[in-house]
Amino acid sequence: MAGPSSRSGDVHIAFVTDAPDSLQVKKDSTLAMIRAAQRRRWRITVLGIGDIALQHGRVMGWTRDYALTADALADLDGADAADYYRLGPPARMALADADLVMMRKDPPFDMEYVHATHLLERAVDEGARVVNAPRSLRDCNEKLYATRFREFTPPHIVSSRPDLLLDFHAEHQDVVFKPLDGMGGTGVFRVRPDDANLRVVIETLTDNGRRAAMAQRFIPEISAGDKRVLLVGGKPVPYALARIPMAGELRGNLAAGGQGVGQPLTTRDQRIAAAVGEDAKARGLEFVGIDVIGDYLTEVNVTCPTCVRELDRAFGLDIAGDLLDHLLPGA
Ligand SMILES: Nc1ncnc2c1ncn2[C@@H]1O[C@H](COP(=O)(O)OP(=O)(O)O)[C@@H](O)[C@H]1O
Ligand SMILES: [Mg+2]
Repeated sequence: MAGPSSRSGDVHIAFVTDAPDSLQVKKDSTLAMIRAAQRRRWRITVLGIGDIALQHGRVMGWTRDYALTADALADLDGADAADYYRLGPPARMALADADLVMMRKDPPFDMEYVHATHLLERAVDEGARVVNAPRSLRDCNEKLYATRFREFTPPHIVSSRPDLLLDFHAEHQDVVFKPLDGMGGTGVFRVRPDDANLRVVIETLTDNGRRAAMAQRFIPEISAGDKRVLLVGGKPVPYALARIPMAGELRGNLAAGGQGVGQPLTTRDQRIAAAVGEDAKARGLEFVGIDVIGDYLTEVNVTCPTCVRELDRAFGLDIAGDLLDHLLPGA
């Protein structure tokens, strides 16, 4: 096929992502969004957070036109991982000149990420539409934001103080300790009653009392999976992806070997989704992934939610298409 070309007059969607060659063609949710945009014949560009600059008082991006090959557009799941897209040369543009900027950079949520949200927020001031809202990406730590929905969260504590974390374990006996800024299950520990590792887990996660960590009561229903529910414009996709931990493992994350099984939302899932969805939408968090274990909300993913591809495949959905139609109706 021909290389990507810019067709002036088209809708222009810019994706802030990790390096294009680091995206996994069979799994990546951003690629589902790109495919949905290309099916709509929108102009698609990509850039990294390092390609955003404040220059002469305006927020500029060094973007590259991006196109899936015809084969990949027709069958992304079956695409050749070594050759499925074309990139144009970098070109400078004001981010406010795109119709939509999708912030899809994966964590780490480090200072570079924070600075990028500041620049993107300036672009919003200049008229850019950025999803998710950069200010809310900063405000809504994925573990802490969930604790705002108290009716739905398991007993928990957030502290850097080892004594408070020890007390929490003494009270609840079977506890999951985790970092506030982890992803993919990294640094997540289950500590049962009488576990000799209790103190070292707390010392490690808090860096000897210098860094806040979260403890939650262990939820036994994790054996039935950690359910991912996606919210588009505050409304849930009607199916969840239950990520079931592999044998002998606590963590259901697909990145930790969990197996994804699609299932309809329960009434409880719907209630949790409604509460989070309403709040998230009001904050400009248009695409969110909530994690539900048993009856409990454990995490609200806002930076770069995934599981689109798995749910699309299991239920014949087009979640990314629904998201784009929600964001730019009629485009
Ligand atoms: N309170 C809990 N009870 C049981 N399992 C949990 C609990 N919290 C986390 N887990 C397990 O650890 C995994 C990762 O935890 P999570 O809080 O989702 O962090 P991450 O951001 O790394 O995905 C979950 O998918 C689940 O399998
Ligand atoms: Mg998780």
